[in-house]
Amino acid sequence: TTALPEGYIIRRMEKQDYEGVVDTLAVLTTVGNVSKKKFDSIIDYWNSNEFEYRGSKVNLYNPHVIVDTIKNEIAATGNIIIEQKLIHDCGLCGHIEDIAVSSNHQGKKLGKCLIEKLRNVGFQAGCYKVILDCDEKNTMFYEKCKFKRAGVEMQSRL
Ligand code: ACO
Repeated sequence: TTALPEGYIIRRMEKQDYEGVVDTLAVLTTVGNVSKKKFDSIIDYWNSNEFEYRGSKVNLYNPHVIVDTIKNEIAATGNIIIEQKLIHDCGLCGHIEDIAVSSNHQGKKLGKCLIEKLRNVGFQAGCYKVILDCDEKNTMFYEKCKFKRAGVEMQSRL
């Protein structure tokens, strides 16, 4: 596994991460207006969804942040959602979502560390696979994180 650079830590997202997370996600897409109150209620919702799988507790949502402890700022964020299926002996599938490394922290292997961490969260929970959707331009990055091209994303948007 890739080591985090000195001064960085990775942990589950908390309410105190509000501003840093919202700012960091802006490198990925339009975030829109997320009030502190709304953010807190989503963190509560994400923390309240637990289920049991083969004798252990599993969190449905696993939002993470990488923190620059020297500058005391959020450097990256990402989530893995763990889906309970009926197929594959009632198996679990992990879905990695909303990966963003803030521009001034890119190119330091934070993205790779984050993906490795989220994949481990998925495999430790018991997922038989971890999947994600990305742009063509990010495929090289994910290949470096040991993901392989599989399937095609289809969308239907409102
Ligand atoms: N194209 C080719 N190679 C890349 C790219 C790229 N766009 N980005 C990183 N790499 C390579 C690096 O060179 C490095 O290679 P090395 O190990 O041989 O030195 C390796 O991938 C790991 O790079 P990191 O330093 O970990 O990458 P970084 O921390 O900059 O994060 C990321 C990459 C997540 C794509 C970041 O640039 C970012 O946040 N981009 C904007 C938002 C985005 O596109 N997010 C992903 C959306 S997909 C999803 O959410 C499921």
